Amino acid sequence: MPLKICCISAEMTPFAKAGGLADVSGALVKYLRAAGHDIRLFLPGYSSIKREGLERYPVEFLQDVPVRIGALDYKFSVETVRLPGSQAFIYLIDCPAMYARPALYTQDPDEYRRFLLLTHAAFLCCQRMGFAPQILHCNDWHTAMAPLWLRSIYRWDALFARTRSVMTIHNIGYQGVVGAVAGGELLAGAGIELLHQEELRAGRINMLRHGLLYADLLTTVSPSYAREIQTAEYGMGLEDTLRARSDSLLGILNGVDYEEWDPRVDRYLPRHFGAAQLGVKAGLKQEFLARLGLAAAERRPLVGMVSRLATQKGFDLLIDALPELLATRDFNLAVLGTGEPQYEAFFTQLEQQHPGRVYFKCGYSDELAHWIEAASDLFLMPSHYEPCGLNQMYSLRYGTVPIVRRTGGLADSVQHFDVATGTGTGILFNDYNEVAVSWAIGYALDLYQQKGAWRRLVQNGMAQDFSWNRQIQRYVEAYERLAQP
Ligand code: ADP
Ligand code: GLC
Repeated sequence: MPLKICCISAEMTPFAKAGGLADVSGALVKYLRAAGHDIRLFLPGYSSIKREGLERYPVEFLQDVPVRIGALDYKFSVETVRLPGSQAFIYLIDCPAMYARPALYTQDPDEYRRFLLLTHAAFLCCQRMGFAPQILHCNDWHTAMAPLWLRSIYRWDALFARTRSVMTIHNIGYQGVVGAVAGGELLAGAGIELLHQEELRAGRINMLRHGLLYADLLTTVSPSYAREIQTAEYGMGLEDTLRARSDSLLGILNGVDYEEWDPRVDRYLPRHFGAAQLGVKAGLKQEFLARLGLAAAERRPLVGMVSRLATQKGFDLLIDALPELLATRDFNLAVLGTGEPQYEAFFTQLEQQHPGRVYFKCGYSDELAHWIEAASDLFLMPSHYEPCGLNQMYSLRYGTVPIVRRTGGLADSVQHFDVATGTGTGILFNDYNEVAVSWAIGYALDLYQQKGAWRRLVQNGMAQDFSWNRQIQRYVEAYERLAQP
Protein backbone atom coordinates (compact mmCIF):
# COMPACT_ATOMS: atom_id res chain seq x y z
CA MET A 1 0.00 0.00 0.00
CA PRO A 2 1.40 3.42 -0.91
CA LEU A 3 2.05 5.55 2.15
CA LYS A 4 1.27 9.23 2.57
CA ILE A 5 4.28 10.96 4.07
CA CYS A 6 4.82 14.58 5.01
CA CYS A 7 8.53 15.31 5.38
CA ILE A 8 9.99 18.58 6.69
CA SER A 9 13.64 19.45 6.26
CA ALA A 10 15.92 22.47 6.36
CA GLU A 11 18.04 21.13 3.47
CA MET A 12 17.56 19.10 0.34
CA THR A 13 19.81 18.19 -2.58
CA PRO A 14 20.02 19.67 -5.21
CA PHE A 15 18.20 22.78 -4.01
CA ALA A 16 19.81 23.73 -0.71
CA LYS A 17 22.76 21.94 0.84
CA ALA A 18 25.14 22.59 3.72
CA GLY A 19 25.90 18.96 4.52
CA GLY A 20 24.62 15.41 4.48
CA LEU A 21 21.11 16.29 5.66
CA ALA A 22 20.51 17.57 2.13
CA ASP A 23 21.64 14.33 0.50
CA VAL A 24 19.45 12.27 2.81
CA SER A 25 16.32 14.43 2.36
CA GLY A 26 16.82 14.33 -1.39
CA ALA A 27 17.20 10.57 -1.35
CA LEU A 28 14.11 10.05 0.82
CA VAL A 29 12.00 11.98 -1.67
CA LYS A 30 13.52 10.39 -4.74
CA TYR A 31 13.50 6.78 -3.58
CA LEU A 32 10.20 6.83 -1.69
CA ARG A 33 8.50 8.38 -4.72
CA ALA A 34 10.11 5.82 -7.02
CA ALA A 35 8.74 3.09 -4.75
CA GLY A 36 5.25 4.52 -5.30
CA HIS A 37 4.76 6.44 -2.05
CA ASP A 38 3.17 9.88 -1.85
CA ILE A 39 5.92 11.86 -0.14
CA ARG A 40 5.55 15.62 0.14
CA LEU A 41 8.58 17.46 1.40
CA PHE A 42 8.52 21.04 2.66
CA LEU A 43 11.69 23.11 2.30
CA PRO A 44 12.37 26.81 2.95
CA GLY A 45 12.36 28.81 -0.27
CA TYR A 46 15.87 30.13 0.38
CA SER A 47 16.87 32.97 -1.90
CA SER A 48 20.00 30.99 -2.84
CA ILE A 49 17.94 28.31 -4.62
CA LYS A 50 18.47 28.67 -8.35
CA ARG A 51 15.02 28.33 -9.84
CA GLU A 52 15.68 29.00 -13.51
CA GLY A 53 15.34 25.85 -15.55
CA LEU A 54 13.38 24.00 -12.87
CA GLU A 55 9.88 22.75 -13.57
CA ARG A 56 7.87 24.72 -11.06
CA TYR A 57 4.38 26.01 -10.45
CA PRO A 58 2.92 28.37 -7.89
CA VAL A 59 0.26 26.62 -5.82
CA GLU A 60 -2.76 28.87 -6.34
CA PHE A 61 -4.52 28.10 -3.10
CA LEU A 62 -1.30 28.50 -1.10
CA GLN A 63 -0.52 32.17 -1.72
CA ASP A 64 -0.13 34.73 1.07
CA VAL A 65 -1.11 32.24 3.73
CA PRO A 66 -1.10 33.99 7.12
CA VAL A 67 0.74 32.46 10.03
CA ARG A 68 1.21 33.91 13.48
CA ILE A 69 4.29 33.14 15.56
CA GLY A 70 4.00 34.60 19.04
CA ALA A 71 2.96 38.19 18.48
CA LEU A 72 4.36 38.34 14.95
CA ASP A 73 2.37 37.94 11.76
CA TYR A 74 3.90 36.49 8.60
CA LYS A 75 2.66 35.39 5.22
CA PHE A 76 4.08 32.63 3.07
CA SER A 77 3.43 31.42 -0.46
CA VAL A 78 4.17 28.04 -1.95
CA GLU A 79 5.76 26.96 -5.17
CA THR A 80 5.90 23.30 -6.11
CA VAL A 81 9.05 22.16 -7.89
CA ARG A 82 9.91 18.93 -9.63
CA LEU A 83 12.97 17.13 -8.31
CA PRO A 84 15.13 16.87 -11.44
CA GLY A 85 15.28 13.33 -12.74
CA SER A 86 12.34 12.20 -10.62
CA GLN A 87 8.55 12.14 -10.68
CA ALA A 88 8.54 13.79 -7.27
CA PHE A 89 7.50 17.36 -6.58
CA ILE A 90 8.45 19.19 -3.42
CA TYR A 91 7.11 22.37 -1.85
CA LEU A 92 9.14 25.52 -1.37
CA ILE A 93 7.90 27.79 1.38
CA ASP A 94 8.48 31.35 0.24
CA CYS A 95 8.72 33.97 2.93
CA PRO A 96 11.40 36.53 2.03
CA ALA A 97 11.42 38.02 5.51
CA MET A 98 12.74 34.67 6.71
CA TYR A 99 14.57 33.02 3.85
CA ALA A 100 16.12 35.86 1.85
CA ARG A 101 19.37 35.80 3.83
CA PRO A 102 23.01 35.34 2.81
CA ALA A 103 23.22 31.68 3.91
CA LEU A 104 20.95 28.74 4.68
CA TYR A 105 21.77 29.04 8.35
CA THR A 106 22.39 32.27 10.21
CA GLN A 107 23.39 33.46 13.65
CA ASP A 108 20.43 35.85 13.63
CA PRO A 109 18.38 36.05 16.82
CA ASP A 110 15.28 34.79 14.99
CA GLU A 111 16.99 31.68 13.59
CA TYR A 112 14.63 29.32 15.47
CA ARG A 113 11.63 31.31 14.25
CA ARG A 114 12.60 30.72 10.62
CA PHE A 115 12.14 27.00 11.19
CA LEU A 116 9.03 27.36 13.34
CA LEU A 117 7.53 29.04 10.31
CA LEU A 118 8.61 26.15 8.09
CA THR A 119 7.02 23.67 10.49
CA HIS A 120 3.73 25.59 10.71
CA ALA A 121 3.73 25.94 6.94
CA ALA A 122 3.94 22.17 6.53
CA PHE A 123 0.85 21.66 8.71
CA LEU A 124 -1.07 24.49 7.06
CA CYS A 125 -0.23 23.21 3.58
CA CYS A 126 -1.42 19.71 4.48
CA GLN A 127 -4.66 21.24 5.70
CA ARG A 128 -5.24 23.35 2.60
CA MET A 129 -4.30 20.46 0.31
CA GLY A 130 -6.54 18.09 2.25
CA PHE A 131 -3.50 15.83 2.59
CA ALA A 132 -3.80 13.46 5.56
CA PRO A 133 -0.29 12.10 6.07
CA GLN A 134 0.12 8.74 7.81
CA ILE A 135 3.68 9.75 8.59
CA LEU A 136 5.04 13.13 9.62
CA HIS A 137 8.81 12.87 9.26
CA CYS A 138 10.87 15.60 10.96
CA ASN A 139 14.62 16.06 10.65
CA ASP A 140 16.91 17.59 13.28
CA TRP A 141 16.14 20.43 15.67
CA HIS A 142 14.68 22.72 13.02
CA THR A 143 11.47 20.76 12.74
CA ALA A 144 11.48 19.09 16.15
CA MET A 145 8.41 20.93 17.51
CA ALA A 146 6.16 19.17 14.99
CA PRO A 147 5.48 16.01 17.07
CA LEU A 148 4.40 18.13 20.04
CA TRP A 149 2.21 20.32 17.84
CA LEU A 150 0.64 17.22 16.29
CA ARG A 151 -0.50 16.24 19.79
CA SER A 152 -1.62 19.71 20.81
CA ILE A 153 -2.35 22.67 18.57
CA TYR A 154 -3.15 20.69 15.39
CA ARG A 155 -4.91 17.90 17.22
CA TRP A 156 -8.37 19.35 16.69
CA ASP A 157 -8.09 18.63 12.96
CA ALA A 158 -9.38 15.16 12.06
CA LEU A 159 -7.05 15.27 9.07
CA PHE A 160 -4.19 14.38 11.42
CA ALA A 161 -6.10 11.86 13.54
CA ARG A 162 -4.05 8.95 12.19
CA THR A 163 -0.77 10.76 11.62
CA ARG A 164 2.25 9.24 13.38
CA SER A 165 5.47 11.19 13.80
CA VAL A 166 9.07 10.21 13.13
CA MET A 167 11.96 12.30 14.42
CA THR A 168 15.31 11.65 12.76
CA ILE A 169 18.50 12.79 14.46
CA HIS A 170 21.11 13.58 11.85
CA ASN A 171 23.34 15.35 14.32
CA ILE A 172 22.76 15.70 18.04
CA GLY A 173 25.34 18.47 18.25
CA TYR A 174 22.73 20.97 17.07
CA GLN A 175 19.73 21.14 19.39
CA GLY A 176 17.98 24.47 18.86
CA VAL A 177 18.17 25.78 22.41
CA VAL A 178 16.26 29.00 22.99
CA GLY A 179 15.50 31.14 26.01
CA ALA A 180 12.30 30.39 27.91
CA VAL A 181 10.98 33.78 26.79
CA ALA A 182 10.41 32.20 23.38
CA GLY A 183 7.99 29.72 25.00
CA GLY A 184 4.91 31.51 23.69
CA GLU A 185 6.15 31.25 20.13
CA LEU A 186 7.10 27.60 20.44
CA LEU A 187 3.89 26.54 22.10
CA ALA A 188 1.54 28.53 19.89
CA GLY A 189 -1.25 28.13 22.41
CA ALA A 190 -0.41 24.64 23.64
CA GLY A 191 -0.13 24.12 27.38
CA ILE A 192 3.11 25.02 29.08
CA GLU A 193 2.98 21.70 30.94
CA LEU A 194 3.98 20.03 27.67
CA LEU A 195 7.44 21.51 27.92
CA HIS A 196 10.35 19.85 29.70
CA GLN A 197 9.87 21.41 33.11
CA GLU A 198 13.35 21.14 34.54
CA GLU A 199 14.87 22.90 31.55
CA LEU A 200 12.15 25.50 31.61
CA ARG A 201 12.99 26.27 35.23
CA ALA A 202 16.58 26.72 34.14
CA GLY A 203 15.32 29.30 31.64
CA ARG A 204 15.75 27.27 28.45
CA ILE A 205 13.77 25.29 25.91
CA ASN A 206 15.55 22.65 23.89
CA MET A 207 13.66 22.08 20.65
CA LEU A 208 15.33 18.79 19.75
CA ARG A 209 14.54 17.35 23.17
CA HIS A 210 10.85 17.97 22.57
CA GLY A 211 11.06 16.08 19.30
CA LEU A 212 12.62 13.18 21.20
CA LEU A 213 9.95 13.32 23.89
CA TYR A 214 6.92 13.48 21.61
CA ALA A 215 7.68 11.67 18.35
CA ASP A 216 6.18 8.20 17.95
CA LEU A 217 9.42 6.87 16.50
CA LEU A 218 12.97 8.14 16.82
CA THR A 219 15.56 7.27 14.25
CA THR A 220 19.16 8.16 13.70
CA VAL A 221 21.43 7.58 10.77
CA SER A 222 23.49 4.56 11.84
CA PRO A 223 23.13 1.68 14.33
CA SER A 224 26.35 2.62 16.14
CA TYR A 225 25.27 6.23 16.59
CA ALA A 226 21.93 5.01 17.96
CA ARG A 227 23.88 3.29 20.73
CA GLU A 228 26.40 6.07 21.24
CA ILE A 229 23.88 8.87 21.78
CA GLN A 230 22.47 7.01 24.76
CA THR A 231 25.78 7.58 26.56
CA ALA A 232 27.03 10.69 28.31
CA GLU A 233 30.02 10.83 25.97
CA TYR A 234 27.95 11.27 22.80
CA GLY A 235 24.45 12.21 23.97
CA MET A 236 25.31 15.88 24.48
CA GLY A 237 22.93 16.16 27.40
CA LEU A 238 20.05 14.32 25.72
CA GLU A 239 21.19 10.82 26.68
CA ASP A 240 18.65 10.48 29.51
CA THR A 241 15.73 11.24 27.24
CA LEU A 242 17.10 8.83 24.64
CA ARG A 243 17.70 6.05 27.15
CA ALA A 244 14.15 6.43 28.41
CA ARG A 245 12.96 5.92 24.85
CA SER A 246 15.47 3.36 23.68
CA ASP A 247 12.71 0.95 22.62
CA SER A 248 11.53 3.56 20.13
CA LEU A 249 14.98 4.43 18.79
CA LEU A 250 16.15 2.89 15.54
CA GLY A 251 19.48 3.28 13.71
CA ILE A 252 19.16 3.17 9.92
CA LEU A 253 22.40 3.66 8.03
CA ASN A 254 22.19 6.30 5.31
CA GLY A 255 22.50 5.15 1.74
CA VAL A 256 24.28 6.42 -1.33
CA ASP A 257 22.63 7.75 -4.46
CA TYR A 258 24.82 5.98 -7.00
CA GLU A 259 23.23 7.96 -9.82
CA GLU A 260 25.09 10.93 -8.34
CA TRP A 261 28.12 9.28 -6.74
CA ASP A 262 29.61 6.60 -8.96
CA PRO A 263 32.77 7.01 -11.07
CA ARG A 264 31.15 4.96 -13.83
CA VAL A 265 28.56 7.69 -14.48
CA ASP A 266 29.74 10.80 -12.57
CA ARG A 267 28.69 13.81 -14.64
CA TYR A 268 31.51 15.97 -13.31
CA LEU A 269 34.20 13.66 -14.70
CA PRO A 270 35.50 13.74 -18.27
CA ARG A 271 36.27 10.00 -18.23
CA HIS A 272 34.63 7.21 -16.26
CA PHE A 273 35.97 4.15 -14.49
CA GLY A 274 35.04 1.06 -12.55
CA ALA A 275 37.13 -1.45 -10.64
CA ALA A 276 38.59 -2.82 -13.87
CA GLN A 277 39.70 0.61 -15.15
CA LEU A 278 41.94 1.90 -12.40
CA GLY A 279 44.24 3.30 -15.08
CA VAL A 280 41.56 5.89 -15.81
CA LYS A 281 41.53 6.88 -12.15
CA ALA A 282 45.32 7.29 -12.25
CA GLY A 283 44.97 9.52 -15.31
CA LEU A 284 42.33 11.68 -13.63
CA LYS A 285 44.63 12.06 -10.65
CA GLN A 286 47.44 13.42 -12.86
CA GLU A 287 45.04 15.85 -14.50
CA PHE A 288 43.72 16.96 -11.13
CA LEU A 289 47.19 17.45 -9.62
CA ALA A 290 48.09 19.68 -12.57
CA ARG A 291 44.87 21.67 -12.14
CA LEU A 292 45.53 22.21 -8.43
CA GLY A 293 49.20 23.01 -8.93
CA LEU A 294 50.33 20.00 -6.90
CA ALA A 295 53.60 18.28 -7.78
CA ALA A 296 53.28 14.80 -9.23
CA ALA A 297 55.81 12.12 -8.31
CA GLU A 298 55.99 8.36 -8.79
CA ARG A 299 53.88 6.59 -6.13
CA ARG A 300 53.14 9.75 -4.19
CA PRO A 301 49.59 9.33 -2.86
CA LEU A 302 47.00 12.09 -2.84
CA VAL A 303 45.02 12.41 0.37
CA GLY A 304 41.64 14.14 0.01
CA MET A 305 39.13 15.75 2.35
CA VAL A 306 35.72 17.32 1.73
CA SER A 307 34.04 18.52 4.87
CA ARG A 308 32.27 21.16 6.85
CA LEU A 309 35.15 22.58 8.89
CA ALA A 310 33.58 21.83 12.26
CA THR A 311 35.12 20.48 15.47
CA GLN A 312 32.95 17.36 15.09
CA LYS A 313 35.03 16.32 12.10
CA GLY A 314 38.28 15.88 14.03
CA PHE A 315 40.25 18.88 12.79
CA ASP A 316 41.87 19.42 16.17
CA LEU A 317 43.69 16.14 15.65
CA LEU A 318 44.88 17.23 12.23
CA ILE A 319 46.23 20.51 13.57
CA ASP A 320 48.42 18.37 15.81
CA ALA A 321 49.28 15.65 13.32
CA LEU A 322 49.56 17.06 9.81
CA PRO A 323 52.60 19.35 10.14
CA GLU A 324 54.74 16.47 11.39
CA LEU A 325 53.38 14.03 8.81
CA LEU A 326 54.01 16.47 5.98
CA ALA A 327 57.56 16.95 7.22
CA THR A 328 58.34 13.25 7.41
CA ARG A 329 56.20 11.50 4.80
CA ASP A 330 55.68 11.79 1.08
CA PHE A 331 52.09 12.64 0.10
CA ASN A 332 49.95 15.42 -1.33
CA LEU A 333 46.88 16.81 0.38
CA ALA A 334 43.76 18.36 -1.19
CA VAL A 335 41.16 19.85 1.16
CA LEU A 336 37.79 21.39 0.31
CA GLY A 337 35.76 22.91 3.10
CA THR A 338 34.40 25.91 4.83
CA GLY A 339 33.37 26.58 8.39
CA GLU A 340 35.01 27.54 11.65
CA PRO A 341 37.65 30.27 11.16
CA GLN A 342 40.42 28.54 13.12
CA TYR A 343 40.34 25.55 10.77
CA GLU A 344 40.14 27.73 7.68
CA ALA A 345 43.21 29.58 8.98
CA PHE A 346 45.03 26.31 9.68
CA PHE A 347 44.62 24.96 6.16
CA THR A 348 45.38 28.33 4.57
CA GLN A 349 48.65 28.39 6.47
CA LEU A 350 49.42 24.75 5.70
CA GLU A 351 48.99 25.48 2.00
CA GLN A 352 51.36 28.44 2.24
CA GLN A 353 53.95 26.38 4.09
CA HIS A 354 53.83 23.49 1.62
CA PRO A 355 53.49 24.92 -1.86
CA GLY A 356 53.01 22.19 -4.44
CA ARG A 357 52.02 19.66 -1.79
CA VAL A 358 48.96 21.07 -0.06
CA TYR A 359 45.92 22.52 -1.81
CA PHE A 360 43.11 24.15 0.15
CA LYS A 361 39.89 25.46 -1.31
CA CYS A 362 37.99 27.47 1.24
CA GLY A 363 34.41 27.29 0.01
CA TYR A 364 31.72 25.03 -1.26
CA SER A 365 31.84 23.28 -4.64
CA ASP A 366 30.00 20.17 -5.80
CA GLU A 367 32.27 19.88 -8.81
CA LEU A 368 35.44 19.92 -6.74
CA ALA A 369 33.93 17.49 -4.23
CA HIS A 370 33.36 14.94 -6.99
CA TRP A 371 36.86 15.45 -8.36
CA ILE A 372 38.47 14.98 -4.95
CA GLU A 373 36.57 11.72 -4.52
CA ALA A 374 37.63 10.51 -7.95
CA ALA A 375 41.27 11.62 -8.02
CA SER A 376 42.42 10.94 -4.46
CA ASP A 377 44.03 7.72 -3.28
CA LEU A 378 43.01 8.18 0.35
CA PHE A 379 40.14 10.03 1.99
CA LEU A 380 40.48 11.30 5.54
CA MET A 381 37.63 11.45 8.09
CA PRO A 382 39.07 11.45 11.62
CA SER A 383 35.73 12.52 13.14
CA HIS A 384 35.27 12.99 16.83
CA TYR A 385 31.71 11.86 16.28
CA GLU A 386 29.92 10.98 13.05
CA PRO A 387 26.22 10.12 13.01
CA CYS A 388 26.63 8.49 9.62
CA GLY A 389 28.98 10.29 7.26
CA LEU A 390 28.51 10.00 3.53
CA ASN A 391 31.91 10.73 2.07
CA GLN A 392 33.48 7.53 3.34
CA MET A 393 30.80 5.58 1.45
CA TYR A 394 31.27 7.72 -1.66
CA SER A 395 35.02 7.17 -1.37
CA LEU A 396 34.65 3.40 -1.34
CA ARG A 397 32.86 3.45 -4.67
CA TYR A 398 35.54 5.73 -6.17
CA GLY A 399 38.38 3.42 -5.15
CA THR A 400 39.56 6.05 -2.68
CA VAL A 401 40.52 4.32 0.54
CA PRO A 402 38.90 5.89 3.62
CA ILE A 403 40.91 6.52 6.78
CA VAL A 404 38.30 6.91 9.51
CA ARG A 405 37.90 6.88 13.25
CA ARG A 406 35.87 3.98 14.58
CA THR A 407 32.77 5.94 15.54
CA GLY A 408 29.10 6.15 14.48
CA GLY A 409 28.38 5.45 10.84
CA LEU A 410 32.09 5.33 10.02
CA ALA A 411 32.39 2.20 12.15
CA ASP A 412 29.31 0.74 10.46
CA SER A 413 30.44 1.29 6.88
CA VAL A 414 34.22 0.74 6.82
CA GLN A 415 36.07 -2.46 7.87
CA HIS A 416 39.71 -2.32 8.80
CA PHE A 417 41.95 -3.92 6.18
CA ASP A 418 43.74 -7.08 7.23
CA VAL A 419 46.84 -7.62 5.10
CA ALA A 420 47.07 -11.30 6.05
CA THR A 421 43.61 -12.22 4.79
CA GLY A 422 43.11 -9.42 2.26
CA THR A 423 39.76 -8.49 3.78
CA GLY A 424 38.55 -5.03 4.71
CA THR A 425 37.82 -1.76 2.97
CA GLY A 426 39.72 0.98 4.79
CA ILE A 427 41.92 2.03 7.68
CA LEU A 428 40.32 2.51 11.10
CA PHE A 429 41.68 3.93 14.32
CA ASN A 430 40.06 3.96 17.72
CA ASP A 431 41.37 6.63 20.02
CA TYR A 432 40.67 10.28 19.51
CA ASN A 433 44.24 11.53 19.72
CA GLU A 434 47.17 12.60 17.60
CA VAL A 435 49.10 9.37 18.02
CA ALA A 436 46.24 7.27 16.73
CA VAL A 437 45.47 9.43 13.70
CA SER A 438 49.17 9.68 12.82
CA TRP A 439 49.46 5.91 13.06
CA ALA A 440 46.46 5.45 10.76
CA ILE A 441 47.72 7.87 8.13
CA GLY A 442 51.23 6.42 8.31
CA TYR A 443 49.91 2.89 8.01
CA ALA A 444 47.79 3.85 5.01
CA LEU A 445 50.78 5.48 3.31
CA ASP A 446 52.82 2.31 3.89
CA LEU A 447 50.07 0.13 2.46
CA TYR A 448 49.91 2.34 -0.59
CA GLN A 449 53.45 1.27 -1.44
CA GLN A 450 52.47 -2.43 -1.44
CA LYS A 451 50.93 -2.64 -4.88
CA GLY A 452 49.18 -6.00 -4.54
CA ALA A 453 47.66 -5.35 -1.14
CA TRP A 454 46.64 -1.87 -2.18
CA ARG A 455 44.83 -3.07 -5.28
CA ARG A 456 42.96 -5.61 -3.19
CA LEU A 457 41.97 -2.96 -0.65
CA VAL A 458 40.75 -0.61 -3.37
CA GLN A 459 38.75 -3.31 -5.09
CA ASN A 460 37.19 -4.54 -1.86
CA GLY A 461 35.88 -1.02 -1.31
CA MET A 462 34.60 -0.58 -4.83
CA ALA A 463 32.57 -3.79 -4.51
CA GLN A 464 30.59 -2.47 -1.53
CA ASP A 465 26.94 -1.58 -2.01
CA PHE A 466 25.35 1.06 0.21
CA SER A 467 22.56 1.87 -2.18
CA TRP A 468 19.50 3.77 -1.04
CA ASN A 469 17.42 1.16 -2.86
CA ARG A 470 18.03 -1.10 0.10
CA GLN A 471 18.14 1.43 2.93
CA ILE A 472 14.89 3.10 1.89
CA GLN A 473 13.19 -0.21 2.57
CA ARG A 474 14.15 0.13 6.25
CA TYR A 475 12.26 3.40 6.41
CA VAL A 476 9.27 1.93 4.63
CA GLU A 477 9.15 -0.97 7.10
CA ALA A 478 9.35 1.44 10.03
CA TYR A 479 6.65 3.68 8.57
CA GLU A 480 4.39 0.69 7.93
CA ARG A 481 4.73 -0.56 11.49
CA LEU A 482 3.75 2.89 12.74
CA ALA A 483 0.92 3.40 10.30
CA GLN A 484 -0.84 0.17 11.24
CA PRO A 485 -4.33 1.00 12.45
P1 ADP B 1 27.79 16.36 7.47
O1 ADP B 1 26.37 16.22 7.13
O2 ADP B 1 28.06 16.24 8.92
O3 ADP B 1 28.41 17.58 6.90
P2 ADP B 1 28.20 14.04 5.72
O4 ADP B 1 29.42 13.24 5.46
O5 ADP B 1 26.97 13.30 6.03
O6 ADP B 1 28.58 15.11 6.84
O7 ADP B 1 27.82 14.86 4.43
C1 ADP B 1 28.56 15.90 3.93
C2 ADP B 1 28.10 16.17 2.52
O8 ADP B 1 28.36 17.53 2.22
C3 ADP B 1 28.82 15.36 1.49
O9 ADP B 1 27.98 15.13 0.38
C4 ADP B 1 29.99 16.27 1.12
O10 ADP B 1 30.49 16.00 -0.16
C5 ADP B 1 29.32 17.61 1.19
N1 ADP B 1 30.20 18.74 1.49
C6 ADP B 1 30.66 19.15 2.69
N2 ADP B 1 31.43 20.25 2.57
C7 ADP B 1 31.44 20.55 1.26
C8 ADP B 1 32.07 21.57 0.48
N3 ADP B 1 32.83 22.51 1.04
N4 ADP B 1 31.86 21.57 -0.85
C9 ADP B 1 31.10 20.61 -1.44
N5 ADP B 1 30.50 19.64 -0.77
C10 ADP B 1 30.66 19.60 0.56
C1 GLC C 1 24.73 14.99 9.78
C2 GLC C 1 25.88 14.15 10.24
C3 GLC C 1 26.37 13.18 9.22
C4 GLC C 1 25.22 12.51 8.50
C5 GLC C 1 24.29 13.56 7.92
C6 GLC C 1 23.10 12.98 7.18
O1 GLC C 1 24.97 16.28 9.49
O2 GLC C 1 26.94 14.92 10.75
O3 GLC C 1 27.18 12.20 9.84
O4 GLC C 1 25.70 11.67 7.48
O5 GLC C 1 23.79 14.37 8.93
O6 GLC C 1 22.33 12.12 7.96
